[in-house]
Amino acid sequence: MALRSAGSGKVSRDAVHHPLFARFYARISVNAETRMGMGGIRDRLLTGLSGRVIEIGAGNGLNFAHYPSAVSEVVAIEPERLLRKLAVESALRAGVPVDVVPGAAEALPVKSEAFDAVVLSLVLCSVRDVPRALGEVRRVLRPGGVVRFFEHGRGGGRAMTLTQRALDRTVWPLLSGGCHVSRDPVATLREAGFELGPHRRVMMPEKGPTLPSSYCVLGTAWRPTEEQPV
Ligand SMILES: C[S@@+](CC[C@H](N)C(=O)[O-])C[C@H]1O[C@@H](n2cnc3c(N)ncnc32)[C@H](O)[C@@H]1O
Repeated sequence: MALRSAGSGKVSRDAVHHPLFARFYARISVNAETRMGMGGIRDRLLTGLSGRVIEIGAGNGLNFAHYPSAVSEVVAIEPERLLRKLAVESALRAGVPVDVVPGAAEALPVKSEAFDAVVLSLVLCSVRDVPRALGEVRRVLRPGGVVRFFEHGRGGGRAMTLTQRALDRTVWPLLSGGCHVSRDPVATLREAGFELGPHRRVMMPEKGPTLPSSYCVLGTAWRPTEEQPV
């Protein structure tokens, strides 16, 4: 078992407390599986994974049903109490063993280099300290291990990027559980020392209105086998 006490950081188990947003997300995320094609995205995000996987900010556990059988174990970190409870229920229905664990990305309660893969899905927008969280991702991943990510961020023309920045400074994080729409997940992964693999832009929803949160990227990155200082 790879768990350790969340000793290295000062992030408590309930560091994330957004009960209203959690209830809202639990409902809309289930609808998005079919109506917005999120189920298909989750399949693409997780296809080909194997071995020990850690999923960070697992929410209500909608990825769990999509893990391939070659995955031997998923440790699913979720800091929000209600979402974690729903994730435990999803874990019972999953086809692979899933252990749902309280914790936050900035201080992962697991040993170093214990995982073959890290899954980040719609979570870098919400973590408080992205460089620290990605430092933790790098720590827990074995050298050569893979990061699979599906994240939304900055996009569109000048008017949209200005709108995204204005929203991030005002109402968006308050209304959506600490989420931000103007972050750049690919750039932050690169800055954190990951090697970027194939990644491509996905609009969510694919058809219909373009929202400030529509500009998504689905891709792969690796922890290099030869470490460079970051
Ligand atoms: C938009 S939801 C995405 C949930 C899930 N990954 C999915 O794909 O449906 C964002 C998730 O990030 C979690 N979260 C927020 N801050 C976090 C942090 N600092 N560390 C880990 N997870 C965090 C939230 O509790 C929530 O479950």
